[in-house]
Amino acid sequence: MELPFIFGKLAHGKMFTNQEKEIEILLNNFRYGINTILISPKRWRKSS
Ligand SMILES: Nc1ncnc2c1ncn2[C@@H]1O[C@H](COP(=O)(O)OP(=O)(O)OP(=O)(O)O)[C@@H](O)[C@H]1O
Ligand SMILES: [Mg+2]
Repeated sequence: MELPFIFGKLAHGKMFTNQEKEIEILLNNFRYGINTILISPKRWRKSS
């Protein structure tokens, strides 16, 4: 059976779901040159 999700790798392409709000915040930070640090417990999607 093919799993609908991937684990242990970066989520990208069609595997990357939701997070529209976070994408918008990060893109705005990048556009305006705002240094940004992501802090969270492990596996909360920072790298993806
Ligand atoms: N946007 C997403 N959509 C679907 N799955 C995701 C998404 N982001 C992350 N995942 C899933 O969650 C897992 C953990 O994501 P990721 O490695 O980005 O977390 P992390 O916060 O960087 O973890 P670590 O603290 O261990 O570095 C990924 O392996 C992937 O399976
Ligand atoms: Mg990471």
